[in-house]
Amino acid sequence: MQSAAQVDLIEELSLAVGAAHVLVDDDLRAAYEVDWTGRYQGPCNAVVRPNSVEEVAAVIRICAVYDVTLVPQAGNTGLVGGSVPRPARSGARSAIVMSLTRLTRLGRVDTAAMQVTAEAGVTLTTWRESAHNAGLDTPVDFAARDTATIGGAIATNAGGSRVLRFGTMRRQVVGIEAVTAKGAIVGSLGGLPKETAGLHWPSLLAGSEGTLAVITAARLRLVPWFQHTATALVAVKSIESGIRLLAALRRSVTSLDAVEVIAPAAMRLVSDHIGQPPPVSSPEAALYVMVDCADHSDPSEQLLDVLSQADGIVDSAITTDAVQRKRLVAFRDRITEAIAAASTEVGVPTFKLDVAVPLDALGDLIKVAQGAADADGCRLVPFGHLAEGNLHLNHIGASHPERIADTVLSAVASLGGTISAEHGIGVAKVPWMSLIRNPADLDAQAAIRTALDPADMLNPGVLHPQGT
Ligand code: MLT
Ligand code: ZN
Repeated sequence: MQSAAQVDLIEELSLAVGAAHVLVDDDLRAAYEVDWTGRYQGPCNAVVRPNSVEEVAAVIRICAVYDVTLVPQAGNTGLVGGSVPRPARSGARSAIVMSLTRLTRLGRVDTAAMQVTAEAGVTLTTWRESAHNAGLDTPVDFAARDTATIGGAIATNAGGSRVLRFGTMRRQVVGIEAVTAKGAIVGSLGGLPKETAGLHWPSLLAGSEGTLAVITAARLRLVPWFQHTATALVAVKSIESGIRLLAALRRSVTSLDAVEVIAPAAMRLVSDHIGQPPPVSSPEAALYVMVDCADHSDPSEQLLDVLSQADGIVDSAITTDAVQRKRLVAFRDRITEAIAAASTEVGVPTFKLDVAVPLDALGDLIKVAQGAADADGCRLVPFGHLAEGNLHLNHIGASHPERIADTVLSAVASLGGTISAEHGIGVAKVPWMSLIRNPADLDAQAAIRTALDPADMLNPGVLHPQGT
């Protein structure tokens, strides 16, 4: 039964965006209230689907008047609980989910500036298609590309496989438009490469996880489209051999695009899931390294040269053929899907950690994570982005996730690493923020947030502990 205030709130939201875009029925809200992993969920009063920056501002102003919280959501592919409402708590304010999936306008590609403007709900795949239509490419790519959107990728400062060459999402944002908790539209979509005019909104908002403002559009960098790609899958004897291979590739291969890592446990899981034997294998394999090189002409010669001289390689496969590449890349791209299937089988959402450490600490990190998994009695499936020392540590069937997090994240911090490399902090990693940021640093971050959002309306509980 809705209170009179709730009825008024829904009525005002309906006037702002149209009744068809305010979802109140349980079955219509359901998909917006649970995250992709099934681990994080919470109720909302309604899902509101604005269609323009002005409608976003109107919704925010209405939510401020009714003192409800607002959870911005786009593709809902996040893995740390930042894009769904918090679990119900007595005394907590009720939540509205603002879905940005109707903001799908894409501007004309400026081929000279190598830029395009995209609204927050444009998917990475659509962004890429628009770049390809103009003979260019996008600098960021990851497996959730068909659903993940520009707004979410900026809000979490997403990374993916091409960070080695082009940097994370933060580096691609040359202009931004966003709405603050006071309903102010801030930023600019000009995209001038040189502009020194006060605070840089893209830098402030990239990685802010929907806590400082709602991102509605961005001016994005594009990159040349290298249409010749060589992909190698290499089994190496040890982590150290993998790191030496990375160093040799970085030194000599100018077309290097991605250097990813797959632990044997991840290779077995994905191979079973897709029903194909691993393309390379050896009882001696301690790790698999997947390398992408992309250029305007066939880049395989440089790649083969490095591979032929590298030590510690026990098996390898290389291809430039599009069909075979797709087959090979599936062993990396479909790991997350394989983990989700395994989670369904064991009946518990997988506990995911996304950490990065200096490369010479990777071996120690894997040992600590394996120790934590053994102590819990769960299955560890590590994979990730070797070039950034970024491992996704998936604990399938974990019984005590907090204990695992305490052990692994403390080790990460003492190894000089970070508790989140590309997935963000969300609600999942908040308790461990103090491992990598001192109290004064956290206070300063909270003060910036309060200045922009005094009522703590935007995504409360994300990045910082929740008030009401
Ligand atoms: C990936 O690298 O595939 C993504 O970060 C997704 C994941 O960690 O599951
Ligand atoms: Zn990743």
